[in-house]
Amino acid sequence: MSIIDKTDAVLEPSAKGFDGPLLEVRDLHVEFHTRDGVAKAVNGVNYSVDAGETLAVLGESGSGKSVTAQAVMGILDMPPGRIPQGEIKFRGQDMLKMSEEERRRIRGRKIAMIFQDALSSLNPVLSVGYQLGEMYRVHQGLSKKDAKRKAIEMMDRVKIPAAAARVSDYPHQFSGGMRQRIMIAMALALEPDLIIADEPTTALDVTVQAQVMDLLAELQREYHMGLILITHDLGVVADVADKIAVMYAGRIVEQAPVHELYKRPAHPYTKGLLDSIPRLDQKGQELYAIKGLPPNLTRIPSGCAFNPRCPKAQDVCRTDIPPLHPVTEQDGTELVGRASACHFWKETIHG
Ligand SMILES: Nc1ncnc2c1ncn2[C@@H]1O[C@H](COP(=O)(O)OP(=O)(O)OP(=O)(O)O)[C@@H](O)[C@H]1O
Ligand SMILES: [Mg+2]
Repeated sequence: MSIIDKTDAVLEPSAKGFDGPLLEVRDLHVEFHTRDGVAKAVNGVNYSVDAGETLAVLGESGSGKSVTAQAVMGILDMPPGRIPQGEIKFRGQDMLKMSEEERRRIRGRKIAMIFQDALSSLNPVLSVGYQLGEMYRVHQGLSKKDAKRKAIEMMDRVKIPAAAARVSDYPHQFSGGMRQRIMIAMALALEPDLIIADEPTTALDVTVQAQVMDLLAELQREYHMGLILITHDLGVVADVADKIAVMYAGRIVEQAPVHELYKRPAHPYTKGLLDSIPRLDQKGQELYAIKGLPPNLTRIPSGCAFNPRCPKAQDVCRTDIPPLHPVTEQDGTELVGRASACHFWKETIHG
């Protein structure tokens, strides 16, 4: 699929002078009507991203990371998907209340997305230069020649060696890492304000993963964009993210500035994820794994959705849904940017 909408017109969204967050997702709910029942994939997600900020969204498979992002990007399959509730504000304007036309001006131009699998996102029968150049021809009305020049420039930006010589090559002639760089170039072409990268390096070799991630982080700083980085790899985010939102069964169960989350998790689920990271200094030891599996989203357990897997679960956890509660020091001092949806967050972080 194409990253951009080709019918996009050259228009600026209004709301100039707005000084709130670049993107603010509020109480977002997404459900899917399936033969098995209603799958509640997203159940009241709140997050925000500022210009120049990187939010990492973390969680096991099926926790609702991609569905949330697809809702933001406006590419959710509807039906079977439905957004019964919530707001997705871009520079203060709720995109869910906009006309399709208005939304289209933001998507692709102001918000771009990078997917895991570049091969299926790029057109196999068109050269990468043509596809990159298309961004400039369609959106900026550049001539073929100028668009090609811009394509080469962007390929250079994302550090593709011998860009000028390779501009006419086809996607399959590039390595996975190089293809992912091309996807980054496509996403950046129109200088969006926000990039959503959904597992952008998962399909790559470990060494290449780090290079692509470093590149993305570098360009994000340079362009002062907001970045939402979706991953289930805690190792990847430590160096690039500012803050982390941990998702479980469609809810954010913990959020924190990145280094604080690693130092002192305030939710048993986060603690479990951290304990499952292989560590070089513990070679040979058996790796911890959170017991059990994430719930079936048509039958989410009552109370805290994590309770059947939680080593600390007590009666209240099976009956009451814990709200996302601000996290404080033992003396009550607020820990800025921290929140946990655990009834026993105090014990978890301080205990
Ligand atoms: N088109 C769809 N129809 C039905 N259910 C869907 C659809 N898209 C997503 N879902 C369901 O929504 C839930 C959340 O999926 P999502 O893709 O957001 O998970 P994720 O956190 O991104 O996981 P992963 O790490 O595997 O990418 C899953 O249970 C999935 O099966
Ligand atoms: Mg996903």
